[in-house]
Amino acid sequence: RQRCSFFFGSGHQDNSFPLRYLFGPGPSNVPPRILAAGSRPIIGHLHPEMYEIMNDIKRGIQYVFQTENNMTLAMSGSGHAAMECAVFNMVEPGESVLIAINGIWGERVAEIAERIGANVHRLVKSPGGYFTNKEIEQAVEKHKPVLFFLTHGESSAGLCHPVDGIGDICRKHNCLFLVDTVASLGAAPIFMDKQNIDILYSGSQKALNAPPGTAPISFNDRACHKMFNRKTKPVSYLFDMAHLSNYWGCDGKPAREYHHTGPVSGFFTLRESLAILAEKGLEESWKKHKEVSAYLYRGLEDLGLKLFIPERDLRLPSVTTIAIPAGYNWRELLTYIMKHHHMEMTGGLGPSIGMVMRIGLMGYNCEKTNADMALHALADALKSCKKSKP
Ligand code: GLV
Repeated sequence: RQRCSFFFGSGHQDNSFPLRYLFGPGPSNVPPRILAAGSRPIIGHLHPEMYEIMNDIKRGIQYVFQTENNMTLAMSGSGHAAMECAVFNMVEPGESVLIAINGIWGERVAEIAERIGANVHRLVKSPGGYFTNKEIEQAVEKHKPVLFFLTHGESSAGLCHPVDGIGDICRKHNCLFLVDTVASLGAAPIFMDKQNIDILYSGSQKALNAPPGTAPISFNDRACHKMFNRKTKPVSYLFDMAHLSNYWGCDGKPAREYHHTGPVSGFFTLRESLAILAEKGLEESWKKHKEVSAYLYRGLEDLGLKLFIPERDLRLPSVTTIAIPAGYNWRELLTYIMKHHHMEMTGGLGPSIGMVMRIGLMGYNCEKTNADMALHALADALKSCKKSKP
């Protein structure tokens, strides 16, 4: 009898999936406590216990985002789901939006906004570039957007963009401030309320160390006011905040209605990861990422490598970008490291492809011993991968 190749053809049965050091920009390795949370028996997505789990997640996100926003929840989906949720709900066709692009994430948001018929204005720098508050204010004055988007942790370039003062500029010009903190949450300080960020989102699989598939997001009152007084319905039913706010018990209604089936195990793991970060404390986590990344920078420079972001204060502590060393093929280096050290590091992404190699040491992975292993693997690859002829 023929066997079903879907189940049996991959060669990866039972526990033959490899253990890897996930030292790229995510997903990162998941600590045993979070893995254990994910193996709990499934309960229904509308059971009262599940609502308690969701309430805990909401409180956890409020802490890690440093916000008191009631409209705080987790998307069923990756950071991208939160990105689309933010744009779909905040922007209506024909409205003007301003997108800061200095890597892949701004490019993506611009495309998403264009797909829903927004009038998209791009503020562009090459990967790793950053925008002064003056440049941002001038562009906001010129384009009069309803929304300004900025990436806090630009993982494709390894840049952690300053945020202070930008929320005030947006308020002054009656514009909402949307920030992507997928790659930086837990690794670098962000204060949603204090920094006047109107919409903030992140992902589960980076410094939070949960499996990919859930994405924290929060909206303040200004954002809610615009979002719930739209002329048109958002293009997506799944990401419609009118429904999601009810599913997450944020709309003040006594009953939660069925909207979609949330990722039950994903919510168990997200709750655990938020609990771990809360127990550790944000300050401690930020400090650790700063220390370990500084240690990694020294080691990389000792190997003769050049960091892609020259300004130390602007480097993203969770994802370090290295300029590709002259005479090497970056794909060969990364393949060698995977083959001989079972370690994932990655190349660039979007506009930074061919410019950088990236090492991510996030959350649970953020340890000097792991930095040592990454440096050892890189040193070995540099020695072993033949330099290509110029
Ligand atoms: C994904 O988030 C990446 O930066 O590669």
